[in-house]
Order: sequence, then C-alpha cells, then structure tokens
Amino acid sequence: MRMITTVAEMRQWSDHERRRGTRIGFVPTMGALHAGHLSLITRAKTNADVVVASIFVNPTQFGPREDFASYPRTLERDVDLLAQEGVAVVFAPPTGEMYPSGCITAVRVEGLSARLEGAIRPSHFAGVTLVVAKLFHIVQPHVAVFGRKDAQQAIILQRMVRDLDFGVELDVAPTVREADGLAMSSRNVYLSIAERKQAVVLARALQTGFRTWNEGERKSAVLRALMMNVLAEEPAARLDYLEIVSQRTLEPVAMVRSGTLVAGAIRVGKTRLIDNWWVREDGTGEF
Ligand code: PAF
Repeated sequence: MRMITTVAEMRQWSDHERRRGTRIGFVPTMGALHAGHLSLITRAKTNADVVVASIFVNPTQFGPREDFASYPRTLERDVDLLAQEGVAVVFAPPTGEMYPSGCITAVRVEGLSARLEGAIRPSHFAGVTLVVAKLFHIVQPHVAVFGRKDAQQAIILQRMVRDLDFGVELDVAPTVREADGLAMSSRNVYLSIAERKQAVVLARALQTGFRTWNEGERKSAVLRALMMNVLAEEPAARLDYLEIVSQRTLEPVAMVRSGTLVAGAIRVGKTRLIDNWWVREDGTGEF
C-alpha cells in the first residue's frame, strides 16, 4: 500500500492509473476508522479495480464551537486497517496541503444545506462540499462510496456531482450498527459507559417507526409521534430534530412513501448522534 501526502503525487498516481484504464474507487474519510468505514472499502472493491482511501480531518466542516481539536486521530491504526483491507493508496495530506493560504473559493449546494443538520451546523455542508470537490479533483475517482448514516451529506453530494458535472459515480452504502442498533460513528468514542446506554434510544426510536411503517402505517404524524414517545423514555437524550422529509428537497412530507427520509439527531452529554431510515424509489425501506 502506498501512502501519499501531497496533491501533486496523488494526481500523478491517478493520471497514470487512468491512462492504463484502471477503474479507481474512492472512500473519503476523516480517519478514526470503524467497521462502517471498512464496509465502504469492501463495497468500493466490488465496483473498482483499485481503491484509494483518504484520511483528512477537514477543518472547514467544523463550526467554531465544535470538536475539530478533539476529533479522534488514530492515523497509524487506520493505515494498518486499510492495508489489511487491500487499499492501494492512502491519501493523508496535511492541512496546509489541502488549504494553502489564500484559498477563497466556495462550493455551496443551496437550500439542501440549510435543512436538518444544516439548520444546527450552518457552515458544515459548505465545508463538506468544498473538501469533497477538491478530493474528487485530486483523486479523480470513477466511483466514490459514502455511508447512508450521513444521509443528508450523501444527498447534497449527489446534487453537487449532478449540478457541477463531476462525472463521478456516487454509491451510498448501508449503515453499519452495533449489536444493540447504535449506528457506528467515529464520535461514539466520546460516550461514557452510561451515555453509551442512553445513546441507543435514537436507533430504538427510529427502528420503532420503521417497524410500524413496515406493518403498513404511512402517516408521518403518526410515525413521528410513536418515535417521539420512544425518545421520551430517555430523558438524558436531548432532541435536535426528528424529521420526515423528501429526499429530493429535504422538506417535510405528510406520508412516508418512496423517496422519503426519516432522520433524527440527539445530544447525549457533549456528543451529537445522527441516524435515519429511508424508503427507496422502489418502495422498499432500509434502516
Ligand atoms: O463523512 C465524512 O467522514 C466526511 O464528511 C467526509 C466525506 C470525509 C468529508 O470530510
């Protein structure tokens, strides 16, 4: 496995591979890898000849009072895991390489970036779209894999790729969960033992909604009320939002049908957790 830290060397590698006709799969990460990330690598391998993974804790997607400084950084362990997974290249640039001074260009997906997570983290998605646009230009992948846990991120990136003609195929992989249902996240390490038990309430609430939807209930108001009842069982969990929206517009919908996203965010102690379930265009659901 090759470790690359400069933009020039990464582009050179990708140019060379593309000229040889190699199909490049890409999994962008901020490191602190867990089984969810590794599932993205496995998925990328099935759809590409070689896989590049990036590790970059992107400062522009953190708000001023957020956890950029304390975000878990486990580079050595991550690199070992990626080598075991058969990744061809790890791209791990220093901050100054990705953001040399004087970088004043923005990439914004209007509207979608202001809803749900964006209403609470106003600059977050501008940071995500900026860094992913840069990574796409540098790595030049044919296909990039993202996790469904960050459903709004995936929706916004799909829109960016379409609107700016990136020519990169986006693949969105199912959420990987702990045995009790908690969605895997690099931020789960922040949870104390007591908070870890409290945190699972979000998955439990969403699962209750999903089960009831599978049993035939379609009204958003009924499903939301059921999920809110479950959330109320855990007073330590503070709700940021629980919304039932269209995946196209992220605006609320009255009925849960094809193309609906049910997304929630809570805070437990100092940790923010997000999770969701959704209904595909063919009418099947996924939690
Ligand atoms: O999902 C993440 O880990 C990040 O938002 C991403 C896509 C790597 C951009 O920094």
